[in-house]
Amino acid sequence: MWGEREATRARWMVRCRWSPVFAAALVLSCAWCAHAAPSPEDTLFIPGTVPYDTKGNKVEAHGGGMLQANGLYYWVGEGAKYSASIISKSINLYSSPDLATWTFEGAILTGDQIKGMPFPAPYRIERPKILWNAQTQHYVLFFHCDTPEFAYPAVGIARSQNITGPYTWVRVFKPDGEDSYDMTAYVDTDGTGYLIRSVGNVFLGISALTSDFLDTTGICSWGPRGEGPALFRAGDMSYMLMSGLTGWSPNPAALVSTVAPRLCGAWWVRQPNPATTEGGNTTFNSQSTAVLPLKLGDGSTLFIYMGDRWNFQGPGSTYNASYVWLPLLPRSGGQGFQILNGPFKDPNVYTDGRRP
Ligand code: GAL
Repeated sequence: MWGEREATRARWMVRCRWSPVFAAALVLSCAWCAHAAPSPEDTLFIPGTVPYDTKGNKVEAHGGGMLQANGLYYWVGEGAKYSASIISKSINLYSSPDLATWTFEGAILTGDQIKGMPFPAPYRIERPKILWNAQTQHYVLFFHCDTPEFAYPAVGIARSQNITGPYTWVRVFKPDGEDSYDMTAYVDTDGTGYLIRSVGNVFLGISALTSDFLDTTGICSWGPRGEGPALFRAGDMSYMLMSGLTGWSPNPAALVSTVAPRLCGAWWVRQPNPATTEGGNTTFNSQSTAVLPLKLGDGSTLFIYMGDRWNFQGPGSTYNASYVWLPLLPRSGGQGFQILNGPFKDPNVYTDGRRP
């Protein structure tokens, strides 16, 4: 579990050294920072731990994503898993100024808000992501909506003018008329929104969203078979990270890339496995859920791999799921990226992509 010592170190480290939110504080406190330079054991995140929120409760935000708004990081994810079907009752939202101190903003969507499913509740609520739609000035929440038995694999949408809610239910639908399992939502640098999902658990289908982000416009790019999709852009290249399909049990990750300027029409090229060191055959006992591009103080970007350690076979099973956040570094002297296993240290250490 996340120790108080690590949390304290992470808090000062993030605030003083790299969070844009604390740029002003940096100026004010640089003298203090100079005296408190990070030592090698400084740690932002220990893989397989669970942070606690400011009220002392576990952060329950599984299969989640991260969005920056209002000068804060917002972590959205599935609430705690319960029952034999392993489902969550809600989508939870947490905020943080520094990726270390988490405030519970509430359950922004609960199962009873879901309308229009052709099966009775309860419903499966998985892999929620929030996008900001600049045109309509709404936050749009997407998630895999299904029955506990996966009998109606669909996407649920709700939206709000405030990231913390209240979220108004929009609809549940099968995007482009196809069964939709694991999914993510993504806005590219040109403002185009995309839904990326496992179509029938056969391939990852990418569809551009309509300008209000409330519908898809047809599958326009075909990725490999995968789950836990996570998109990110690095310069002229776009990347899609994913897991294989073994349910709650971990498996090797896969990475594909494209040079296409827009995701529609993109052809995907397979890159080397991003996790090849010891434990890589299970992606360090985790499944991908998102990649967070973190801007560092020097203007460079550190990509953070966000994964879930589902703990399916462990004590308490998925109720005791934890998180795996690791640096996703450009592969030195080669193509693609690699996930660097171990304690996640001061993000500045990884600035130029080299190992610390
Ligand atoms: C995983 C998937 C999860 C959940 C699970 C159910 O592969 O990524 O989101 O659907 O299967 O077995």
